[in-house]
Amino acid sequence: MEERKTLYSAIQPTNNLTIGNYVGAIKNWLNLQENYDCYFSIANMHAITVRQDPAELRKKTLALLALYVACGIDPEKCCLYVQSHVSAHAELCWVLNTFTYVGEMERMTQFKDKSARHAENVNMGLMDYPVLMAADILLYQAQYVPVGEDQRQHLEIARDIAQRFNNAFSPTFTVPEGLFMKVGAKINDLQDPSKKMSKSVENPNGSVFLSDDRDTIIRKFKRAVTDSQSTIRFDPENKPGVSNLLTIYSVFADKSVEEAEAEFDGRGYGEFKAAVGEAVADKLAPLQAEQARILADRQYLDSILKSGAERAARTAGKTLFKVYKKIGFYQI
Ligand code: TYM
Repeated sequence: MEERKTLYSAIQPTNNLTIGNYVGAIKNWLNLQENYDCYFSIANMHAITVRQDPAELRKKTLALLALYVACGIDPEKCCLYVQSHVSAHAELCWVLNTFTYVGEMERMTQFKDKSARHAENVNMGLMDYPVLMAADILLYQAQYVPVGEDQRQHLEIARDIAQRFNNAFSPTFTVPEGLFMKVGAKINDLQDPSKKMSKSVENPNGSVFLSDDRDTIIRKFKRAVTDSQSTIRFDPENKPGVSNLLTIYSVFADKSVEEAEAEFDGRGYGEFKAAVGEAVADKLAPLQAEQARILADRQYLDSILKSGAERAARTAGKTLFKVYKKIGFYQI
């Protein structure tokens, strides 16, 4: 039998996850878990590059695991674990730092954005974020990395670092490829559809959180910005608001964008926005209930994390051993 290819992805347990995280990441993982050897981590080491409340961070770590499982990520099929439970991430990150240039990191779009938003705390970790992400991926020799559009640049740098290391020594790392959804790799803000929907927004009406209740979801969609025309057509350039809503509808109602366009042909924006809100609320309600049910079972969650960490550490340890050998770290 042909060996299954490896796939790696992660989400930070920060703030409240949005439907962007669900559509751009988790939803994509669901189909992939059947055919790949999957590692899905909870990136708490990335999370602390922005100040976190310790008690909240602990809580959100478990909540994110419960969400993975509630969404249908199967812990029997996939390795689910917490990044800080596998020390190889920090160790490989240190080595890869010596193969990464300061100038490259300063040019990263997300670093520039976050530095502007957290001007009081532009710490080394924030700048090093992409190198830690490269370490995550490369430790598992992942061929594929399913992420949203906003991670494209980080993935490019991970590829560059892998190639640089392979060229300096001998082939050591698999050079990973990003997997982006055709529909939904970038869900935009409902109030400003030129920006991506973000967990850390100044205007909470622009983001729909996975924890929002039905009324809040419907209210946010009713207030979504559209345009001054009246046609419901997919045209991201000229109709960014409507196109974003069509994308969201298509994902949550399990229809193609063309089917969604046909369904709303000739109908008004008010009716359309309400229907998108209903579709999202209908999908999220059972997920929220399932997440709450799983979250109540601490023992089950801990057992997933324990076996996940063991499995992840085995795979990561093999790669780290090779790396240490190649760079000349004396081994005992
Ligand atoms: P995070 O937590 O910021 O985002 C998690 C995932 O959600 C996607 N995403 C979106 N997709 C579509 N539309 C949006 N509006 C939207 N907002 C977020 C992100 O692209 C991502 O896939 N740095 C990573 C976490 C990470 C990681 C890794 C990912 C750490 N190590 C290794 C892959 C491989 C991040 O962006 O997390």
